[in-house]
Amino acid sequence: MKFAALFSTFAVASAVTTVKLNKKSNEDFIEEVRSSFQLKSTLGDSGDITIKDYQNSQYFGEMSVGTPAQKFDVIFDTGSSNLWVPASDCSNCGGKIVGRKNKYDRTKSSTYVVDDAPFAIQYGSGPVSGNWSVDTANMGGFDIDAQRFAEVKDASGLGVAYSLGKFDGILGLAFDSISIDKTPTPLKNLIDQGKIDKGMFAFYLGDEADGELTIGGYDETKYTGDLVWEPLSQATYWEIDLDDVSAGGTSYASSTSGIVDSGTSLLTGPTSIVKDLAKSVGAKANVAGEYTVDCDATLPDITFTIGGNPYTLTGDEYIIKSGTTCLFAFMGLDVPRPAGPLWILGDVFMRKFYTVFDYENEQIGFATAI
Ligand SMILES: *[C@@H]1O[C@H](CO)[C@@H](O)[C@H](O)[C@H]1NC(C)=O
Repeated sequence: MKFAALFSTFAVASAVTTVKLNKKSNEDFIEEVRSSFQLKSTLGDSGDITIKDYQNSQYFGEMSVGTPAQKFDVIFDTGSSNLWVPASDCSNCGGKIVGRKNKYDRTKSSTYVVDDAPFAIQYGSGPVSGNWSVDTANMGGFDIDAQRFAEVKDASGLGVAYSLGKFDGILGLAFDSISIDKTPTPLKNLIDQGKIDKGMFAFYLGDEADGELTIGGYDETKYTGDLVWEPLSQATYWEIDLDDVSAGGTSYASSTSGIVDSGTSLLTGPTSIVKDLAKSVGAKANVAGEYTVDCDATLPDITFTIGGNPYTLTGDEYIIKSGTTCLFAFMGLDVPRPAGPLWILGDVFMRKFYTVFDYENEQIGFATAI
């Protein structure tokens, strides 16, 4: 089974959440990452980070903290706004079964500045806590001076998706308004420190293959046609107005909101609507609360209409195949008000559509990924 790594880093603004994570067998989960990691050279004033794909469920890439650089694999997460890595003295940072996590050792960094105030964050998959620190960070080849980040002491709340997952920490790429203590994000600091030409970044997610995160611009070789720009409805998450969600031409939701979240594996929507949507494609709920569908079934297209433009996923694109099982890539998640109701357009959506996140102009550009 490949579903065990399904993960959501959607930062929960209020204390309530109903995300369900899959916990399948560990043997199946402990699989080799299929693709090898190659760091691409940085070009001009934008930098490319290779994004590794773990079973199409977790996408992560390399960054560093400290001087000299201490390297970490992090989820570059558009659904949250904080950076954290495991602290050197973290005893609840997973890695007991497979491999160890990379951990940050403040005593080995000449640019470390003490802070130590308590830090806590709640993700869709669970809570994480530790203490704040300040140090030089680096992503995409750009040094970020005096980045405030968290040294995490307890990540056990994230469960097996973390302990057996391939990433060390999370780097939030949403807006400062939802950052804990309104701490400037690494991207905001890069912009304020004049390190990048354009205040934007873009994701190309591989399909069981390496992808690419471009910082400070976008990569025209990774999509076809023109980018279509959609304005943000709110600069908190990367939130856009969702005119309509339809399956086979029938509308299931209208005049609602969605966020584009690289840290969430699937697509989510309000529980009752996802239930109807699942029914309409012939999917059935299993005991784990997932929907599965007959792998041989003929499936209707599902279309998200954003700014009057259709973004369509075919059956092949919203089904995750694993052996003889086919998982319907939607889960019910009721995001409470005031943030909700909200749809989350996660990796399943972003694999189809190359996505440019324009921080300065508060808009998102979509085009069909190559
Ligand atoms: C570090 O954070 C913990 C809670 O996460 C808190 O109990 C502790 O006092 C903090 N350490 C310092 C030195 O403030």
